[in-house]
Amino acid sequence: MAEYVVEFGKDGGRVEPDGRLDAAAFHRNHQAIWAVLERFLAGKSGDVVEAGSGTGQHVIEFARHSPDITWWPSDLNEQHLKSIAAWRAHAGLANIRAPLRIDLADPAWCPQMHDGSGPAKLLAVFCANVIHIAPWRVAEGLVAGAGRNLRADGRLFLYGPFKRDGRHTAVSNAVFDASLRDKDPEWGVRDIEALQELAASAGLVLNEIAGMPANNLILSFARL
Ligand SMILES: C[S@@+](CC[C@H](N)C(=O)[O-])C[C@H]1O[C@@H](n2cnc3c(N)ncnc32)[C@H](O)[C@@H]1O
Repeated sequence: MAEYVVEFGKDGGRVEPDGRLDAAAFHRNHQAIWAVLERFLAGKSGDVVEAGSGTGQHVIEFARHSPDITWWPSDLNEQHLKSIAAWRAHAGLANIRAPLRIDLADPAWCPQMHDGSGPAKLLAVFCANVIHIAPWRVAEGLVAGAGRNLRADGRLFLYGPFKRDGRHTAVSNAVFDASLRDKDPEWGVRDIEALQELAASAGLVLNEIAGMPANNLILSFARL
């Protein structure tokens, strides 16, 4: 069964003295995710926001492979923001900015997106394993912000388990979905068609579905 973590550091995972947290799933999924992101990012430069960065490990790994991209990690959980900052200091890479405190339930995201101190128009927004472990309004805020902040050739990438035509793509995802809903009725594996409808309201269209290990997908959205 797919596992999920609401708060890293309280899940029995490693906690370093400087606050760096470790997500077990990161070690299993980062290569497959990067293979998809790289196809789009290769040869490009610009700003990329990761929404709901968690420990911060994905941003560090991806920034290492893409020196011409400026990465902006974000989260709203204090321990996670601390972990992201600690991983950033530990990596010492010039192309990772300090984490932004973004509550995705707020379509405005954060003041830095509006006051000139944050990223420029975004080449991409990447969000892994967030929208099914959060109320639907988080998906709404994520997509609204992406629609507003992506540049003309930008992409929104969503990684995680998804339903197709209201149906689970694997038994393990159905079991996972039930466990999420049991924990919080507002959580749950999202339907691709519902996300397409939401994306359309933000001027975005689904342009690719990439299969990932363990019955996960990456959905890629471009401007209409
Ligand atoms: C399962 S973790 C995934 C973390 C990371 N993306 C990964 O794949 O390892 C979900 C993350 O979403 C964040 N999150 C939950 N609700 C959020 C919200 N409303 N705004 C921003 N982040 C949120 C949590 O703090 C957590 O870091």
